Amino acid sequence: MKILVAKGAGFCFGVKRAINISFDIAKEKKTNVYTFGPIIHNPQVIKKLETLGVKPVKDQNDLKRKKVNALIIRTHGIPLEKMTKLEEAGYEIIDATCPYVKKAQQYAKLLTTEGYQVIILGDKNHPEVEGILSYAGADSIVVSPDESLPKVSKKIGIVVQTTQPVDALKRLLNRAIVQTREIKVYNTICISTALRLKETEKVAGQADVMIVVGGKNSANTTQLANLCRSLSVPTYHIETPDEIDKRWFGNVEVVGVTAGASTPDWIIEEVKGRIKKI
Ligand code: F3S
Repeated sequence: MKILVAKGAGFCFGVKRAINISFDIAKEKKTNVYTFGPIIHNPQVIKKLETLGVKPVKDQNDLKRKKVNALIIRTHGIPLEKMTKLEEAGYEIIDATCPYVKKAQQYAKLLTTEGYQVIILGDKNHPEVEGILSYAGADSIVVSPDESLPKVSKKIGIVVQTTQPVDALKRLLNRAIVQTREIKVYNTICISTALRLKETEKVAGQADVMIVVGGKNSANTTQLANLCRSLSVPTYHIETPDEIDKRWFGNVEVVGVTAGASTPDWIIEEVKGRIKKI
């Protein structure tokens, strides 16, 4: 069996940065370091950080009665009002929001200042989108990729959740162009996401089966699995090598492997090792 790993699979720049920040702070503070929400969507990495004394908390209430040496903000960022409350409470805040996500937040704010109604293309329930929305005006709306565009104002400004595919933006623009007079677009799609999708598609085109590695709660990993399935390749979304079943590989000559932005290299290596053994 030949194993093909998609280029760009695994940790992206923003996640690498956040994880390095977390390890450094863990070393410096030793104990009582918290992340506001899981630092990334990967349970195995969260567990590893917990062994070093870095634990996630759900919200500010969770921090009450705790001694907090440092509070790390996750890659997806958090809503402005939550950040303000945390600052007011006097926590030592280490902001590990990915700089590309920060850019999307800043563009949302800029568009609002310039009088545009902000349209955010993305998943309404995703923490990154909730964060971006908090920087935009009261009339701003979130539109998911296949949703129709509701009635909008004459002047709209678009920003995009960093992990959306370019096609979703093209579809939104097609809908928007007939509904409004002025559109300003900030293409905030992260290049590493676009590259990972493209390379995954390439590998899936050559593979008999695809193994997609990453958190089941990771939106971008799920997106990769859905892409492979849409290409009619048998696809398995796993978090760890223990989930691999050798029955998946009967008559298989080429196995494709890809991984989401929050999947560490060591898990990808373990997955490759397990497939090689089979
Ligand atoms: Fe940032 Fe792109 Fe990763 S937005 S967190 S570098 S997928």
